[in-house]
Amino acid sequence: MASPSSSLAFLSDLRAKYGDVAEYETAFGQVHFFNRPEHIAAVFDHDALQRTELVTLVLGKGLLSSDGAYWRKQRKLMQPEFTRLRSEEFAGLVTHSTQELLRTWGPLMGTGESVDIAPAMTELTLEVIVAALFSVELKREGPGLVETITVLIEGLGARAGMTFNQPLKVTPEENRAFKGALADVDAFCLGVIAKRRRAMAAGDEVPRDLLGILMTGSDEPLTDKELRDEVLTMLISGHETTALILSWAWALLAENPDVERDLHKEVDTLLEGRAPTLKDMPQLELTQRILEESMRLYPPVWFIARKAIADVHIGEHLVPKGDTALICTYLAHRHEEFWPDPDRFDPNRFVPEAVRVRPRGAYFPFAAGRHTCLGQKLAMVEGALILAQLAQSVRVRPLGDPFAEIDPAITLRPKRGMQATLEPRTGIRPSV
Ligand code: HEM
Repeated sequence: MASPSSSLAFLSDLRAKYGDVAEYETAFGQVHFFNRPEHIAAVFDHDALQRTELVTLVLGKGLLSSDGAYWRKQRKLMQPEFTRLRSEEFAGLVTHSTQELLRTWGPLMGTGESVDIAPAMTELTLEVIVAALFSVELKREGPGLVETITVLIEGLGARAGMTFNQPLKVTPEENRAFKGALADVDAFCLGVIAKRRRAMAAGDEVPRDLLGILMTGSDEPLTDKELRDEVLTMLISGHETTALILSWAWALLAENPDVERDLHKEVDTLLEGRAPTLKDMPQLELTQRILEESMRLYPPVWFIARKAIADVHIGEHLVPKGDTALICTYLAHRHEEFWPDPDRFDPNRFVPEAVRVRPRGAYFPFAAGRHTCLGQKLAMVEGALILAQLAQSVRVRPLGDPFAEIDPAITLRPKRGMQATLEPRTGIRPSV
């Protein structure tokens, strides 16, 4: 699946030529590229290595694009809600939406008709996240949002290429579409905020969700712009990545029928046709290991950049103030010294005994240090419930050869989607 693409090929060549620490120059200044676990952990841990401005173009000053005192205050405000969210109520939301997807897939199963798995996963995870965080029903209040967000993510991806000395190839039409998508998504977020303000002013009973916490939980109330930045940050960071781990997992399972068979055994024995719940998580062991191994091979966030706000030493290497420290999750997750036979799909790499002895900084799909993903546990619950529930009733059979090709833009997406047919699994059919 891993065909070389320009940004990734650039970094891969650099590493092959210069080893685990390399430097290169870009239009934005010098970039220091680190590949060893101890260096990667040090980059994540250093207070003077801070977020770059790459995603501020879309996300403004939300949690994913800010740093320092403002970021700390916002993270403290939102963190407890993410613990509260990991509940049976959330699990029910996930399995209900998954059941709806199975219902729409029903007439296609066994017909040989082609389905693109990638946008199906995106729509599903977007539906879950807007309902869980903002109590919004996507189909009613945000039709077309998936396509709009895709334009934004692709636009950011085109611009991200400059970090790897790739020419900026954005046509005037693409630029217009990007600006239009930004305006549409702004209108959606501001609409959600305005509706909630009206409900609160009218004294209506309002849902207890992340939006409510953002609007009322701060000593100094957030402005509409600040709220918009946080809502959009959660919208984008809260679904695309989870959708990607699921898409890549389907692709890997299709290539590894023995693992697929073991997955079927796990879900059939444990669930016997019912929908999974939060209580099943400890028993969905292989299901979770499949997701972990998928994120090793195809980490949705495939690179992370940090700007030095002071001179910083990473091991012996100096990153002068103003320069950028870069980590490529995709390449680090395939480092031969820490991952024998690195390109092979093997979920057993994540049995507890193996995880215990692996150095910190060898595996970090959710980053590490102070900016560790806020949605990490939520994403693992959501991903495992969806994979288990779908795997009970359907086999995804790839149509293309290759089924999927990587497109490392701002996230690691499948180029041209993932066309497949759906085969019903005989015997057990889940019901919610
Ligand atoms: C498999 C799914 C996911 C992956 C692989 C992932 C990955 C990441 C990574 C690598 C970062 C660090 C980015 C950086 O520091 O520059 C991050 C941060 C973040 N993620 Fe996730 N994420 C996932 C799911 C989610 C979900 C479901 C949510 C929310 C509902 C979420 C919300 C966030 C937020 C708010 C941050 C910023 C944290 C901070 O700086 O304090 N993510 N994520």
